[in-house]
This record gives sequence, structure tokens and C-alpha cells, in this order.
Amino acid sequence: MKSVLIDQKTCSSCQRCIQLCPTSVLRTSGSGIVAQYPERCIGCGQCFAFCPTGSISLNGLRAADAIACNSADLPAEHALRSLLQGRRSIRRYRTEPVPRAVIGKALELAGHAPSGGNLRPLRWTVVHNSERVHSVAAAVVAWMRSELDSGNPLSLVLNYAGLVASWDKGNDPVMRGAPHLVIAHYPGPAAQTMHAGVIACTTLELAFAGLGIGSCWAGFLMIAAAAPSGKAVLQACGLDEDSSILGGLMFGYPAGTPLRVPPRKPYPVEWIS
Ligand SMILES: Cc1cc2nc3c(=O)[nH]c(=O)nc-3n(C[C@H](O)[C@H](O)[C@H](O)COP(=O)(O)O)c2cc1C
Repeated sequence: MKSVLIDQKTCSSCQRCIQLCPTSVLRTSGSGIVAQYPERCIGCGQCFAFCPTGSISLNGLRAADAIACNSADLPAEHALRSLLQGRRSIRRYRTEPVPRAVIGKALELAGHAPSGGNLRPLRWTVVHNSERVHSVAAAVVAWMRSELDSGNPLSLVLNYAGLVASWDKGNDPVMRGAPHLVIAHYPGPAAQTMHAGVIACTTLELAFAGLGIGSCWAGFLMIAAAAPSGKAVLQACGLDEDSSILGGLMFGYPAGTPLRVPPRKPYPVEWIS
């Protein structure tokens, strides 16, 4: 259970926490505001984040010990544009490894991504060893061969024949020779957790870009691992057979930086009143 404690000595009873709590945990009582229904708390921290007097402790963290938010630190529009428009899928990497501490920093940032009901259902697996990344690619290619043999029509659409031929010539069209791979996964059927994985990986991709790390979605890995015939791919990732891969990024230091933003048509928008 989550714990929400209110310091009655400093609480001004402004009731902002009561108004913001999405699950109606807090109530006024004779002595001030109390967490009357703690079992409903999802730990989202709205009360904690917005309390003007810093009177709330959440899961043992006191307001005074929390990371402060400073709107002056937010990126200006040009910096935001550099990050969001300048992020590119990176498919060529330097061999120099990304230190674990730097990867950890990016994962910590991505851990602040939202998830439904603040359930935070996913786990990360980082494949740090480049040979192991190559063996994951090999497992995906082996799966593509079996799909070609079984005549799955998706093999034609996704050109598995071309990808397998490229692999046989010594290329890596699956992991692009990336030194590292990170996988968001869940120990069961993906169902609703898929959203959390996609959001976390998208956040991680941006965190990577901001830290000078290049990454690219590992879509073929995700397709192979989701197939009933893809158990060997899960195994190659060190996951058990019942796991679901929710998202994956190959990554490393980029060999080259983009010099311009490619054209992207905005998605159609309909304003309704
Ligand atoms: C879910 C998803 C799966 C993807 N899978 C792959 C992949 O397996 N291999 C690859 O080279 N690129 C993959 N991509 C990258 C897309 O091709 C890329 O995002 C798109 O072409 C736009 O380019 P940009 O990311 O540079 O803006 C994937 C992207 C997404 C969102």
C-alpha cells in the first residue's frame, strides 16, 4: 500500500490535495486533512507535487527531500524543437560502448513517463554486450527464415527474404550493428501494458537523444517476439516464454549526426467546437 502522510503542523488546509487527488484518498477531518482511504492511493504524487506548503510525505519521501521543479529550467522553444525535430532513428553506431552509468541515467529519466493508473508495469532488460545483441539479431533472422518456410504472407510484406539475404551476406538489417539493446517487457500477456511500454520507450528515445546517444526502434524484434513461433527470440533476450516485449531500442553512440530536419507532413487535425 502507498503511504500519504500530512504534517498537520504546516498544512494550511487549502484543500488543493483533495481537489487534485484522482482517487479521492484525502478528506478533511476535525484535525485537518487526512488520508482517509489510503488503499485507493495510486502513488501518482499529485498531492505531493502541488502542496504549496510541502506538508505531504509520499512513500517515505518528504517534500523537503524531493527534486524541485523549476519552470525556468524548461527548454526554450528552440531547444525543444532541436530535441523533438532533430531526433532521428540512428542506424550506424560507433563501437565505443555507452557506459552503464549513462544508460542508467536515461532509464531513470524514462521511468518518469506516465502509465495508466500509475501502475508502472514494465521491466527493462539492457543487453550491454554487443555480441549478445548480435545473437538476438541472429535469433530474429532464424525466426524470419521459419516464417518464410511456413509461407506467412507477412513475410512478403515485410521482405523477410531480402533481410535474410542481407544477413547471409554479413550485414545486420535487424539490429544494425548496434552495440546495445534495451527491451521493455512484462512477465505475462501484454494487453494494456503495451501502452506503458511504448510510452516509456518513446520517452527513453528522447532521453537518449538529449544525452547524445543514438537509438532506433527494434521493430523486427518486437514482431518476432510477439509471434507464437517466436519463443526462441524471447529466450535469446534472456526472457522467459510467457513474457511480452512491449518495446525495444537498439542504441549506441551515433556514427554521424543529422544536419537537417527531413520534411514531415503534420497529421491531419480537425478542430471541432
Ligand atoms: C514501432 C516502430 C518500429 C520500428 N522498427 C524499426 C526496425 O525494426 N528497424 C529500423 O531500422 N527502423 C525501425 N523503426 C524506425 C522507423 O523506420 C522510423 O522511426 C521512421 O522511418 C521515421 O524516421 P525517424 O525516426 O528518423 O524520424 C521503427 C519505428 C517504430 C516507431
